[in-house]
Amino acid sequence: MEKMIEWSKGVEKNENLDEMVLQAIKKIECEGYGIGEGRTATVCALEGRFDVCVKILNKSIRPKNGATEEMRFLDKLKSKKFPVPQAVCCAKTERSEYVFMEMIDGLSILDLIEDDLFEELPENFDFKGFFEKLREIVKRMHSENIYHRDLRPGNVMVDKIGNPVIIDFGESKELSLSTEEPYIDENSLGEARIISPDENRIIELCKELGSYLKNKNYFTR
Ligand SMILES: Nc1ncnc2c1ncn2[C@@H]1O[C@H](COP(=O)(O)OP(=O)(O)O)[C@@H](O)[C@H]1O
Ligand SMILES: [Mg+2]
Repeated sequence: MEKMIEWSKGVEKNENLDEMVLQAIKKIECEGYGIGEGRTATVCALEGRFDVCVKILNKSIRPKNGATEEMRFLDKLKSKKFPVPQAVCCAKTERSEYVFMEMIDGLSILDLIEDDLFEELPENFDFKGFFEKLREIVKRMHSENIYHRDLRPGNVMVDKIGNPVIIDFGESKELSLSTEEPYIDENSLGEARIISPDENRIIELCKELGSYLKNKNYFTR
């Protein structure tokens, strides 16, 4: 396997770990224990470890950002104390691209709703406070010129104490000029693709989670 590993700024670089990462990749391709499935990737746990997971990007559906760019977003945001997973490293093989990162102890809003995991929410979960925090985080992200652009239920997690964690920076964009348009992409033919603003996605998320919780009698407790 060709060696192409880049270590996160947030972890101490260690050449001896390269071999370990390659071994983990080999192993995970054969017997990975999936913990999440998205539109572009499968996320697997590592054997015997509960703190690290690997996002394996599907080669056939290319997100805007590859593993390297996704790790850059995580590094940049983590260094500014945003609630995102700590990146470990990213790797590329002939087969796939991988992002090794901190495993978040929590659940995505998608898993919560689809698998009906209400019981797994922290007991004192504060719906209103959660969305206030999420809005603040995203506002601060925008002030750093970073736009997530894919705030769907699978990309927002609730951690063990009920706080939001934002994942999946596969469609994110960092503006280099403040005159740049955050939500318009142009394809190779020069055609524009318009993306729903992060704020609107948060409103949708809030409605979706709100109606799920309403059915669970959360608001009348
Ligand atoms: N760091 C993480 N910790 C725990 N679960 C994760 C983590 N990253 C992703 N997941 C799970 O895997 C799913 C897919 O990951 P995601 O990065 O959203 O991939 P995709 O680009 O395919 O949408 C998520 O919805 C979530 O359930
Ligand atoms: Mg996703």
